[in-house]
Amino acid sequence: MGSKVALVTGGTGGIGTALCHELASQGFTVVAGYNSGGNHEKAKAWQAEQAKAGYTIDVAYGDVSDPASSEACVNGILERHGSIDVLVNNAGITRDSTFRKMTLEQWDEVMNANLRSVFNMTRLCIQPMMDSKWGRVINISSVNGQKGQFGQTNYAAAKAGMHGFTKSLAQEVASKGVTVNTVSPGYVLTSMVAAIGDEVLQKIASTIPVGRLGQPEEIANAVAFLASERAGFITGSNLAINGGQHMF
Ligand code: CAA
Repeated sequence: MGSKVALVTGGTGGIGTALCHELASQGFTVVAGYNSGGNHEKAKAWQAEQAKAGYTIDVAYGDVSDPASSEACVNGILERHGSIDVLVNNAGITRDSTFRKMTLEQWDEVMNANLRSVFNMTRLCIQPMMDSKWGRVINISSVNGQKGQFGQTNYAAAKAGMHGFTKSLAQEVASKGVTVNTVSPGYVLTSMVAAIGDEVLQKIASTIPVGRLGQPEEIANAVAFLASERAGFITGSNLAINGGQHMF
């Protein structure tokens, strides 16, 4: 048998790219799921960039908020690689707004991309993991799912929901060698965080005891550990990586 296969949804984004690099470095065959509004050229360019940097990473299109598109994505990966042993549910979006101004569309978009997606993708991957008696599901949540955040009722609800999902599924699949965990990053230097706007971001940064934003690699290191053989006794956990911004 070849190396284990890891699928990272939202794999071409800020944290996603670091996840792909680290998992590839640890010997996984890595597939980066992407949506990018169907911009396949952008994904191909990303893939070429990674190859130049020495990382061989497959790319797979799929809208994770849509069940049919998720299924096509997973089936394509199974055809090419034979299995998905590690699923990292990393794809996510923000549509920040104070609640009184929030539209139903902003609510639905975030719930669908960040939480419904976890149902869609995990549903397709979990049975084969259980059948093979080994698997890892790692859900990328957020510090804001743990503490809440002004302007993010939709995002915080979805991210908190992910961990409820983690704890429940972890119990259902533990006896089959499959672990399910949540990682909750704090504010990490990516385009999602850069979009906040300087003044608000500086205020937030001043509340981080470590005194800086996180680096994508600092999330990737922990995810790679959870994906490894060594983490077989860790399941249903929520690992906070937020520079001390929220402790509980
Ligand atoms: N706490 C309390 N009050 C606040 C506040 C805060 N954090 N921020 C703004 N306000 C106040 C303002 O002073 C203003 O008060 P007045 O009306 O009395 O003047 C009022 O709230 C503004 O309300 P609005 O509805 O008009 O808000 P807005 O449209 O100006 O901005 C927002 C709302 C776009 C959500 C903005 O607050 C914002 O960008 N917040 C940051 C959200 C955030 O942190 N997003 C994280 C994105 S990154 C990510 O999500 C990754 C991850 O996982 C960490």
